[in-house]
Amino acid sequence: MKRFSLPGKFILAPMAGISDAAFREQCKQYGAALTVTELTSVEGIVRKEQELKDVLDVQEGEKPAIQLFGNDKDTIVKAAKIVEPLASVIDFNIGCPAPHITSQEAGAALLMQPVHLKEILSALVEAVGIPVTAKIRAGPSENHLVYKEVALALQDAGVSMITLHPRTVKQGYGGRADWSRIKDLVELLDIPVCGNGDVTTPEDAKKMIYETGCRYVMIGRAAAGNPYLFQQCNDYLKTGSYEKITDEKRKKLFVEYAYKAESLGIKFSRIKVMAMQVARGFTGAKDLRLRVGVAQDVDELVAVFS
Ligand SMILES: Cc1cc2nc3c(=O)[nH]c(=O)nc-3n(C[C@H](O)[C@H](O)[C@H](O)COP(=O)(O)O)c2cc1C
Repeated sequence: MKRFSLPGKFILAPMAGISDAAFREQCKQYGAALTVTELTSVEGIVRKEQELKDVLDVQEGEKPAIQLFGNDKDTIVKAAKIVEPLASVIDFNIGCPAPHITSQEAGAALLMQPVHLKEILSALVEAVGIPVTAKIRAGPSENHLVYKEVALALQDAGVSMITLHPRTVKQGYGGRADWSRIKDLVELLDIPVCGNGDVTTPEDAKKMIYETGCRYVMIGRAAAGNPYLFQQCNDYLKTGSYEKITDEKRKKLFVEYAYKAESLGIKFSRIKVMAMQVARGFTGAKDLRLRVGVAQDVDELVAVFS
């Protein structure tokens, strides 16, 4: 197991379609201790080894955690070695419930294969010189919770940290994330546990740490369009207070994101997705979203928020 220690408590969650390189840079700037790429297919990486930029948007020198998904051990190892020079951490996805992932026996489908999982992760840990982490869900359903068994297998394999999003696959994003399951893992494991699920404010973030004892907190949806949340969480943990974000600041952050994303060649459709997220934070969100919907280029999007 490789030593795993981050300079802060709060991690940007991998979010397909959202956590692109420009957004990750902003989250880092506002104090995220680590950012994770969206899940990336190991087959895609191996196939596109010579044109990695087609499948992986990582900036020169960025070194995020790169999240991989797949099922075949040899392909996973091969892909990890290809991306290792670009990454500070390899994160392995064992939680994605999307049918196009589980139908490949990857993502959450692997929760049902602890023996195979242990083989994959052991090989991965052996193959790369950087820490390997894993992100899991609680299990397929409430009647079939496997997170403890899976987490122990992963720890045995030499994984450096486990992130638990404690919803079941069946739950999708419905209901509540049961944080007591995060506490279960903190008590069970020797390696750091990262708690995830339903942290929407600095108060939630602090509460998760105090209630569960988790070493790190991963934040997804609440950070989408709001990278300043990381600074608020850090400030709140340190001082017990934080500055509210003004509408002007929220707009300014989006404008910076949009131009950065454009300069990195990020597709306009993705920049629009972020604009939709940002629009949520304003009164009159419906009207803003309509205007975002008809914008044709980055300048028009920026005008919506000016
Ligand atoms: C749009 C979207 C895309 C996501 N993509 C990924 C992904 O690529 N990999 C992953 O492990 N989890 C993914 N997730 C799950 C999040 O990382 C996180 O576990 C989940 O949203 C719960 O955290 P939250 O309540 O802070 O959002 C995604 C979630 C959303 C909403």
